[in-house]
Formats: sequence, C-alpha cells, structure tokens
Amino acid sequence: MFLTPSHPKNPKTRTGWPCGELYRSLLLHRLALSLSFLLLLNSTVTTIVAIRVKTITPNPSPVKLPVFREAPVFRNGDSCGLNKSDLIQIAMTLDENYLRGTMAAVLSMLQHSTCPENLSFHFLCAHSDIELVPSIQSTFPYLNFKIYHFDLNRVRGKISKSIRQALDQPLNYARIYLADILPADVKRVLYLDSDLVVVDDVGKLWDVDMEDKVLAAPEYCHANFTVYFNDDFWSDKELSKTFQGRNPCYFNTGVMVVDVDKWRNGGYTKKVEEWMAFQKKKRIYHLGSLPPFLLVLAGNIKQVDHRWNQHGLGGDNFEGKCRNLHPGPISLLHWSGKGKPWLRLDSRKPCVVDHLWAPYDLYLSSRQFLEE
Ligand SMILES: *[C@@H]1O[C@H](CO)[C@@H](O)[C@H](O)[C@H]1NC(C)=O
Ligand SMILES: *[C@@H]1O[C@H](CO)[C@@H](O)[C@H](O)[C@H]1NC(C)=O
Ligand SMILES: *[C@@H]1O[C@H](CO)[C@@H](O)[C@H](O)[C@H]1NC(C)=O
Repeated sequence: MFLTPSHPKNPKTRTGWPCGELYRSLLLHRLALSLSFLLLLNSTVTTIVAIRVKTITPNPSPVKLPVFREAPVFRNGDSCGLNKSDLIQIAMTLDENYLRGTMAAVLSMLQHSTCPENLSFHFLCAHSDIELVPSIQSTFPYLNFKIYHFDLNRVRGKISKSIRQALDQPLNYARIYLADILPADVKRVLYLDSDLVVVDDVGKLWDVDMEDKVLAAPEYCHANFTVYFNDDFWSDKELSKTFQGRNPCYFNTGVMVVDVDKWRNGGYTKKVEEWMAFQKKKRIYHLGSLPPFLLVLAGNIKQVDHRWNQHGLGGDNFEGKCRNLHPGPISLLHWSGKGKPWLRLDSRKPCVVDHLWAPYDLYLSSRQFLEE
C-alpha cells in the first residue's frame, strides 16, 4: 500500500516552514483522504502492511521536528531516456533518528545523477514516523517518492538481542521485506542505508549486470568470515555445512541491488526469517540483521566494485574513534558503525571524513511546536 503526495500547485507558497503547521495539517489531511481512498479501491494490491487511518491523526504532544533547507531543482541531462525501464528505484527507511542522514543521502544522489528526474524513491517507515513525510515533501518539492508503512510487528518477535542495541531496531529488518512491500512493477531495487552519501552517478551502480544473481553488492573476501558466527555454529556438523560449495564473503547490507522478482520467486524473505527463528532457539551469531543475510546469500552474490561502499566511516564500537578512507576510487561514502557525521559535527569533534558529508547537510535548526 502506498500513497503518492501530489506536487504543489504553486511552488512559491511552499518554501517550507514558516507556515509549516498549516501545511503539515493540510498534508496530513490529504494523506488521510488518499489513504481512505486507497483502502476503498485498492483491493488488488497485496501487501504485508496494514494501514489504520486513525494513526494518521496528529499526536497531541509537542514534537520537535528538525527544519531543513529546500533543495534546489535538479534536471535531467539530454541523454536521459523516456522508457519506463529508465526509472532508478531506490528504497530507504525513514526514521526520525536518521532523518538528517536521509536528506543528505537523497541530495547527494540528485546532485550527482545524470538523470536526477528519473530517480524514484521508496521510503519505508513506521506508523510513528509518518510525521516525517511533510519534511521530505518540503525539502524536496519535486522528488518522485512513495511512502510505505512498515509494520514493526512483522519482525518484533523475530529479533534476537545483538551486541549493539542500535542493530536491533525493527526498521533495520525492513530490507528483508522489500519484495513484499514494493509494487509489482518494481523489478529491481537499490536498497540504501540512511548514513551515506553517493558522490557519483547512482545510475552506474543501478545498471550492474546481475547475471543470474538475486543480489549485487561489494564483497570483502579478505575479511575473516569466521567471526560472524560463534563456535556453536562452526562446531555443529550440520550447521557448518551451510556454506558448503560456496565461497562465502562478508558483504555490507547497507548497499544492495536486489532483483525483486528473483527474491520473491526464490522465497528469500522466508529463508532469512527461518534463520532468524533458528537464532531465537539456538544462538549462532552476535550481530543483528547481517548474519541471516550472510547465511542465505554469502558466496552467491554478484560482486560490485568496492568504490560503491566505502563503509565503516562511523568508526568501530569505540566512541570517538575515527576511520580513514581506504585507498582507491570512491563513489559512495558510508558512515556505518557507531559514529554518525551529523552528531560528530554538532559535537564539534568531527572526524576528518565527516567534512565530506557536511556539504550535503540540509539541516537548518530544530523547531519546537505544538500540533493543532
Ligand atoms: C525502450 O527500450 C527498449 C529496449 O531497451 C528500446 O528497444 C526502445 O526503443 C525504447 N523506447 C524508447 C521510447 O526509448
Ligand atoms: C526520465 O526523465 C525524462 C525527462 O524528465 C522523462 O521524460 C521520462 O519520462 C523519465 N522516465 C521515466 C521512466 O520516468
Ligand atoms: C578467523 O577468526 C577465527 C575466530 O576469531 C580465528 O580462530 C581464526 O584463526 C581466524 N582466521 C584467520 C585466517 O585469521
């Protein structure tokens, strides 16, 4: 189930937040209307998300929403095609804690794309974060995007505690359900985390030849793969056979090109879920959503150039630890790890790499207001 916010009739009246409250309530009203409309008519769309219109009504408590500068308009180059297949489908989650990162990521892609008007965004968000939608709309008035409600209950009972609480957020698991959530005409999707910026034409990553693979991502075969699973896993005769006949390598699930049809037809959601259920019974790993992905797909993905995920820039699990860039060309910078560039910049203790994120920051200030 999705809704497409319509474009403004008169962009001049929509410069953002001086009249934010009014705009916001208007938009919420419009959302509620289109939702009831979709609920009435849209019985053909199969979806895992349940939408309750009443949850759209604004929360009466004071909310502190960040305010963002409006991004400029980005236009297509002459070489951009007119085909439906020319659309570049990008899925991201939308989450209050990462909103500033999402804005920067979107801006970076628009800015470096040859065909920015052909980017189509799919934002997955929890009911409680529906209030972020007007922020996206006012920051990117011309963005082609859809919002999908991700029902956190779908995964809540399946998540095992990991060594880092941030990894246990249900929305982290939304990427497993892309094939169920996205409409059937989306055949391929690029899933991206919200703590990254793309500094190259994202269309190049999108155009990867997947061959017969269900997933494409940079692979890291020099990393010690053993460490992603515990001794109970490796010492178990049956379990350790999981990777037989494969050459499993670590890959980062924050940047993935997914063949949605192959994923759906191959029942990959269920395969990943089965490992999560197994982990609940017998602990075989310590991290969050990564290990079940590795169990199902490691050693069976299409390798993409490392330039497309320079990850780990958030540092390790130690507060304040900075990481340098790895040598080689870079198309995507990813602040995976504990540190986030917007927090470190605000605390005036940034790492050197954080200055590469700063140019994409659209954040203006925080504004407290009472709703209605
Ligand atoms: C659309 O793409 C197909 C296959 O790539 C091509 O044959 C066709 O001419 C394209 N149509 C237009 C209108 O560009
Ligand atoms: C890609 O952008 C061009 C130029 O704006 C547009 O005419 C075309 O319809 C877009 N393609 C798709 C599939 O939206
Ligand atoms: C990989 O990690 C495991 C577990 O920590 C360790 O026992 C093994 O020696 C490591 N292998 C290599 C090649 O470093």
